[in-house]
Amino acid sequence: MCGIVGYIGKRNATDILISGLRRLEYRGYDSAGLALLSDDKITLVKQTGKVAALEQRLKESVASDVREHSCIGIAHTRWATHGLPTEANAHPHTADNGDLALVHNGIIENFADLRRQLESHGCIFTSQTDTEALAHLISTFDEGDLLAAVSLALKRVQGTYGIAVISARHPGQIVVARRGSPLVVGIGESETIIASDVSAIVAHTRQVVYLQDGDVALITENGPQVYTLENAAVDRAVSKVEWEVDAAEKGGFAHFMLKEIFEQPAALQNTIRGRLDMALGTAILSGLNLTARELAAIRRLVIVACGTSLHAGMVGKYLFEGLADLPTDPEQAAEFRYCNPILGADDLVVAISQSGETADTLAAVREGMQKGALVAGLCNVVGSTIARETGRGVYLHAGPEIGVASTKAFTAQVTVLLMMALKLGRSRRLSREAGLSLCEEINRIPEMIGRVLEENERIASIAEKYAGCNNAFFIGRGILYPTALEGALKLKEISYIHAEGYQAAELKHGPIALLDKKLPVIALLNDIPGKEKTLGNAQECIARSAPVIGILTEGDHEAEQVSTDVIRLPRTSAYTAPVITAAALQLFAYHVARLRGCEIDQPRNLAKSVTVE
Ligand code: F6R
Repeated sequence: MCGIVGYIGKRNATDILISGLRRLEYRGYDSAGLALLSDDKITLVKQTGKVAALEQRLKESVASDVREHSCIGIAHTRWATHGLPTEANAHPHTADNGDLALVHNGIIENFADLRRQLESHGCIFTSQTDTEALAHLISTFDEGDLLAAVSLALKRVQGTYGIAVISARHPGQIVVARRGSPLVVGIGESETIIASDVSAIVAHTRQVVYLQDGDVALITENGPQVYTLENAAVDRAVSKVEWEVDAAEKGGFAHFMLKEIFEQPAALQNTIRGRLDMALGTAILSGLNLTARELAAIRRLVIVACGTSLHAGMVGKYLFEGLADLPTDPEQAAEFRYCNPILGADDLVVAISQSGETADTLAAVREGMQKGALVAGLCNVVGSTIARETGRGVYLHAGPEIGVASTKAFTAQVTVLLMMALKLGRSRRLSREAGLSLCEEINRIPEMIGRVLEENERIASIAEKYAGCNNAFFIGRGILYPTALEGALKLKEISYIHAEGYQAAELKHGPIALLDKKLPVIALLNDIPGKEKTLGNAQECIARSAPVIGILTEGDHEAEQVSTDVIRLPRTSAYTAPVITAAALQLFAYHVARLRGCEIDQPRNLAKSVTVE
């Protein structure tokens, strides 16, 4: 949510900042800005709209010697929280008559108090943002040491932040700090790049330092010096980013979303690789860091997550209860925290988060730990806050997900949950033979998703028929119900069609009143236990003139007969059906959105990685 990038070194900062912003644009895209420091002077450019508009503005309004010869700068792409997405509210924000510039992710909760105090001391505010108060505060504390001024100011701040600050009084420095919003420092050859995520850094270096909450760092071209706000030096290890720069590029696809849908066979190979024990019929998930005794002592699972990750968690309920006899409660992370959850040492809280930075999920993690439960993280982003704070868990290894609509993360999350359920099941009631047969099925997931992707053109032609509709229902039963929710979420977030997911049986308890020939029902009719009953529900839709798009198992003529249109999937067991089905629904949503001319990778009002509560 909001992207930050900063550069200090010997090269032209403008190009590096703009290309960094482009890579971070998925985090927010309502306005953008940048501040360049050269000849002891700060040049500021801001623009509403996307990074391309900022680039144009730069060319028009900044002299070429500043544009081409500044070697220090900070930049930001915004997802508005306080104040409309106007030029005045875009970052960077300045103080000290334009001699100090600041970019910020997060929310300063006490900004109104700070603003009142600063205004009473003569500070003039030019925006409605919370961030501007912090810029003025730092400036008032600056008595010749920028790092000290930032630390003093941050001690007065309530809320969350990832910030980068430059000052014309302190050339040769960027000061950065974080609490609740990620910041990564990339260490190059006589240059340092800071960013809110590594995708803006990997083109320049793969040596990075992940800052931790409470860190403040002085950045020079020689790298970071990290301190606490109390000025105690801290050591932060240098890590190597394991993926290549092309993993964060479109690679010939029209959109990141499509690329990520098509990447799933390879991504899931990585998720599964080395994690199945084909002799014992179990999963090897050493990151969980649980002894056999601890595993056996678990009495209940609580899954905390938001959005698509929550839907994966809801699939997890069927997996853990079906394979390991473990009661499992999936909870929306923000709600979980405010309902006094009853937790104890024999509960395992599993936090699922692609980004590992979602504020609500992180708060739920902290609640779980505080209440003495075991807490594990299922994250994709290596070194992310949830992965670090839980200290135990399973990485998805699905590679960077840039498209705002989550796709490969969902299928990887369900695959990891399936492996966890296998492991817990084997320590409880599953026989070695049952475990082995599940291992074989898990191993086949990448190939089965590949077969779904072969249906791309057919799915596109069905999408053509329904792209003009205003509403859509998705129905599924049992383990496919969360997949129906996920299909509806994908469609609504990228095509803006109003879409709802229902348990197939629930339709007749009210929503059926809305059915008519203009409301398509996407029915998950996979040939797994419960199908017969869902077929009956699909018949009820047909009887009300609603077209039914049947997502069904190839060769299932009975299901074809109740469907107006058909998407065929390979035969699977119930446990892998959600993964395979989700891939088809992702393609359907993608094509509908494309045909409606929507901005697929940057849907309106959304941003990836929601770091505010
Ligand atoms: C939907 C989507 C969101 C995220 C949610 C949680 O396509 O991407 O619903 O799933 O914001 O994000 P993570 O998984 O990063 O915690």
